[in-house]
Amino acid sequence: MPDSDATQLLASAHLILTRKPYAHGTHPALPKPPRRAKPFAVVIFGASGDLTKRKLVPGVFGLFKEKALPDQFEVIGFARREKSDESFREEMEEGTKKFSRFAPIDAAEWKAFSQHVSYHVGNFDEAEAYQSLKLRLEKLRQSHGIEQFLFYLATAPEFFYEVVSQLNKVGLVGPDNENSRVVIEKPFGHDFKSAKELVTSLQTVIDESNLYRIDHYLGKETVQNLIYFRFANSIYEPIWNRALIDHVQITVAEAEGVGTRGGYYDGVGAVRDMVQNHLMQLLTITAMEPPGSLNSEAIRDEKVKVLRSISTPTPEDVARIAVRAQYEGYRSSDRVDPNSKTETYVGLKLLIDNWRWAGVPFYLRTGKALTKRASEIVVVFRRPPLALFKTQDNCEQLHRNRLHIRLQPDEGIHLRFNAKVPGKSAMGAVDMDFAYKSKFGSYSPEAYERLLHDFIVGDSTLFTRADEVLEAWRIVDAITSGWAQAPVGLYRGGSWGPSESDALLEKDGNGWIDL
Ligand code: BG6
Repeated sequence: MPDSDATQLLASAHLILTRKPYAHGTHPALPKPPRRAKPFAVVIFGASGDLTKRKLVPGVFGLFKEKALPDQFEVIGFARREKSDESFREEMEEGTKKFSRFAPIDAAEWKAFSQHVSYHVGNFDEAEAYQSLKLRLEKLRQSHGIEQFLFYLATAPEFFYEVVSQLNKVGLVGPDNENSRVVIEKPFGHDFKSAKELVTSLQTVIDESNLYRIDHYLGKETVQNLIYFRFANSIYEPIWNRALIDHVQITVAEAEGVGTRGGYYDGVGAVRDMVQNHLMQLLTITAMEPPGSLNSEAIRDEKVKVLRSISTPTPEDVARIAVRAQYEGYRSSDRVDPNSKTETYVGLKLLIDNWRWAGVPFYLRTGKALTKRASEIVVVFRRPPLALFKTQDNCEQLHRNRLHIRLQPDEGIHLRFNAKVPGKSAMGAVDMDFAYKSKFGSYSPEAYERLLHDFIVGDSTLFTRADEVLEAWRIVDAITSGWAQAPVGLYRGGSWGPSESDALLEKDGNGWIDL
């Protein structure tokens, strides 16, 4: 198929996926909002932080460059430090030049974009700063016809409620304010209780449908493709269940250690930092039932059902199904407690107790300082009966068919199956390959770009709903409390993690598949 056909196919598939959402908790098959953004102003709280110059402003710039923004839009940085519009723009220019996927940046293009960027000084708890922000936005409404006001909280979570309630007090957000939305960044709490408190407190000042919780994994093309892959093909659905699938392995491995993020990471650890959000997203999209329609609530309803089908592990279960460890040398990292028990690796076996998956283990692992960076979902099918081939060479055990969904890097999908070796009565494993790069070139939009665009147009499909967050915490809480008294093991940096993680699968006659 020529690439232009492929682009068209993707564009029409995209249209199918992008019909307007419906109100939370209802199910009519209404279309999603149009992808064309209406004039908007986005205010970024915590604008002097790293995220703003690494991801957010380069992301909006990317959308500008892709002509995905309306003529009228404004990006307003909100932070404590005194600075002029000009100096804020300079900082953002520096960040965009360094981190944008479009670097090197064309000077004229940056100049055109930067006319839309400005700065608003204020403390998060300072009522006057919100009053003046409101006046500023009001002027934009009059002068530029901007009706949509968006608020991006790139702040520490302890400020979420403060900022949203201040916005609520001046009438910029609220249950009846349909033209304003708020996005928050993880962590959404550090356990079930704090997450619940956060959900409950925010619900008093903003409607759930206008609150967007970002999980940047959902912005990855390969993760979105999981939905297309499963439900836009007829050949996978009939085999996607316990009759044919033996088990599923989900790996998110990182080669880097904790680096300079010790201050945040220590005390949080891999299960809260990665499993509670990113790995649970991968698990739910892999395991969910086909949604009734493709709008956000239908998809999110199915994802939540998967989590609800995972029972809360008891402390005895945790000892059997969860492994944690820390890489050697972690404790001497910057801003890490020298006696830290924080895990940098988690291996986990979860069972989804529903009709589709009962008895099929889902093995999850994630860690820092591992052999390499590799995120992959491997679906391992049941072994075929051996009877027919047992007299042949090399067939003591037939390989099980495997589907590798490679999320990053070297994005692609590979099916492994058995084939006859030419000229011999022998069997070998061969692969059928789809590589994104060879089919679609190296084009891959930044996850943040896609998510920012969805936020701007009001499409919440790729954002995490409150009930998803809480269900994931229910499971993670049980694991962390099961671990409370247990010592944390060690693993060698550059390895694939602790041997206990291999043992977790060996007990079931399985093993982690080399990536
Ligand atoms: C973040 C975690 O959410 O995801 C980090 O806080 C982790 O610890 C990162 O490194 C991984 O994201 P990616 O996109 O590089 O796989």
